[in-house]
Amino acid sequence: GAPVKADIGKLEPGQMVVVEWRGKPVYVMHRTPEQVADLPKLDGILKDPQSEISEQPAYIGGVDRSLRPEILVVVGLCTHLGCAPKFRPEVGAADLGGDDWLGGFFCPCHGSKFDLAGRVYSGVPASANLVVPPYSFEGDNVLVIG
Ligand code: FES
Repeated sequence: GAPVKADIGKLEPGQMVVVEWRGKPVYVMHRTPEQVADLPKLDGILKDPQSEISEQPAYIGGVDRSLRPEILVVVGLCTHLGCAPKFRPEVGAADLGGDDWLGGFFCPCHGSKFDLAGRVYSGVPASANLVVPPYSFEGDNVLVIG
């Protein structure tokens, strides 16, 4: 299929939008500098912090799993059985682990939790991080998925 373009110039820090690509929801989130800086703090309680067993393009590396640190692009389908995880950006959410929750995505089907890089927490049914699709940028504001 053809690539999908999305103008993300108005996506404010802290916000997420959903872009459809090949019939799948792709979550595009603008992370704040604090949210990016917090990611490594979670490495010890994640299943695959370096994404060694998770699906992503070869050009995506590091704990932020992105081309631009502030922009997260992941397929919004839980790697357990494919439900759509909910965006839960609030730090310290009591129902999601309190101090161990620095914002991320929560799957309501069986309780899998992912951080703001789509990395899966330990102790939940999903075993891999959310998939990063192939993508690139055109100029400052246009995201090209596919
Ligand atoms: Fe998400 Fe099972 S489908 S936890």
